[in-house]
Amino acid sequence: MDKFLIEGGVPLEGEIDVSGAKNSALPALAACLLTQEPVTLRRIPLVRDVLTMLRLLERCGAAVHSEDGVLRVQAAEIVHPEAPYELVKTMRASSLVLGPLVARCGRARVSLPGGCAIGARPINLHLAGLEQLGARLSQEHGYIIAEAPDGLRGATVHFDRITVTGTEDLLMAAVLADGETVLSNAAREPEVVDLAALLIQMGARIEGAGTSTIRVQGVRRLRGAEHAIIADRIEAGTFLIAGAITRGHLVVRRCEPAHLTSLLHKLRQAGVEITQAGPDALAVRAPGKLVSVDATTEEYPGFATDLQAQYMALMTQAHGISIITETIFENRFMHVLELVRMGANIRVEGRQAIVAGPTPLSGAAVIASDLRASASLVLAGLAARGQTVLDRVYHIDRGYERIEEKLARAGARIRRISDL
Ligand code: EPZ
Repeated sequence: MDKFLIEGGVPLEGEIDVSGAKNSALPALAACLLTQEPVTLRRIPLVRDVLTMLRLLERCGAAVHSEDGVLRVQAAEIVHPEAPYELVKTMRASSLVLGPLVARCGRARVSLPGGCAIGARPINLHLAGLEQLGARLSQEHGYIIAEAPDGLRGATVHFDRITVTGTEDLLMAAVLADGETVLSNAAREPEVVDLAALLIQMGARIEGAGTSTIRVQGVRRLRGAEHAIIADRIEAGTFLIAGAITRGHLVVRRCEPAHLTSLLHKLRQAGVEITQAGPDALAVRAPGKLVSVDATTEEYPGFATDLQAQYMALMTQAHGISIITETIFENRFMHVLELVRMGANIRVEGRQAIVAGPTPLSGAAVIASDLRASASLVLAGLAARGQTVLDRVYHIDRGYERIEEKLARAGARIRRISDL
């Protein structure tokens, strides 16, 4: 298993480029199953989860061609409308093929995703929505079988709670359903808007993406399209925090500032200086004293749960007490104990982590538990005195494209060592 070796204490300087959004690439790839024509996607990050999704599409029968981050996918014929356990267990977002497969083929057999480090993460809302569109569901041997031999029919689907991939799954099912579908209490994330933009280019009729009510008029078939996906707002936020926690001066390029409003507001309140450095670039520096500022994760446009762990690393260096409340997932504080081992002063009480700072961090051997927790430990390692060894970096490779190379180009002393 690969590890990262990090020598902390070096302020990051210069520029760092953001890749395309993993959480936009995954639904966009699943959407390729909705048409027999070729779909070309640009700015696809070659991260582990994307590679897993490509294997899943090929398993279904799609032809995949990848060159320099440009992907051409053609599902001319779907021979296996299914997502097997061995793929789903490594990437729960495989459930994103459920809606497209039922819509295109009239049936799907998808392994139920197991839990994961950050929570139980059921897909009951995906399934309830498909049933409302007329699919018949059954479960056997850990698989969900969804059948709609006469096609899906439009309906009003209300989500009991906001779900990002649930909204995306049902949006992809609805575009080929007969009649109108209304998705109520839908997720408003930029990745949902990006998926809708791709589907509209494929010929879908969608209104309201980005609001909590999305209206879809079903069409009989979709055509191929070309689409460049949006910048990864979570990677961009991670790099902004990296510039702040190392007291450097970093320009984060190829990002979408409008998708980062909550984080920018929070960082500025904490004393971080962030300025626009171009239409798609932000300059970050934190020369002065950092002050503790509370944060509560919420659905977009609130403070992103995917930035909670990274923000917590920064708050260990801020003066005062900050209370970080995680409202989206039930177990997303796996990074706390590792940060404490590096010298942080953090106490967890239920859904809240109470951070007292500033505390000097010292390098240590730490273990990654999930994607964003590992990003938090990289940030702490960059700020710590001495050497940090981060194990199980395959977690971070799931969602960050060659992060150690990008950080090293900005001056970080970080390198990957492979256990052969
Ligand atoms: C998406 O996960 C993202 N993944 C996650 O990013 C992100 O943390 C999450 O949205 C929240 O923003 C992708 O887009 C591939 P949810 P998703 O359905 O869709 C509960 C990362 O780090 N729920 O919005 O799986 C669920 O348990 C990953 O890149 C149900 O109860 O999240 C959670 O508590 C991690 N039943 C809450 O809703 C359901 O059927 C929000 O989950 C679905 C969800």
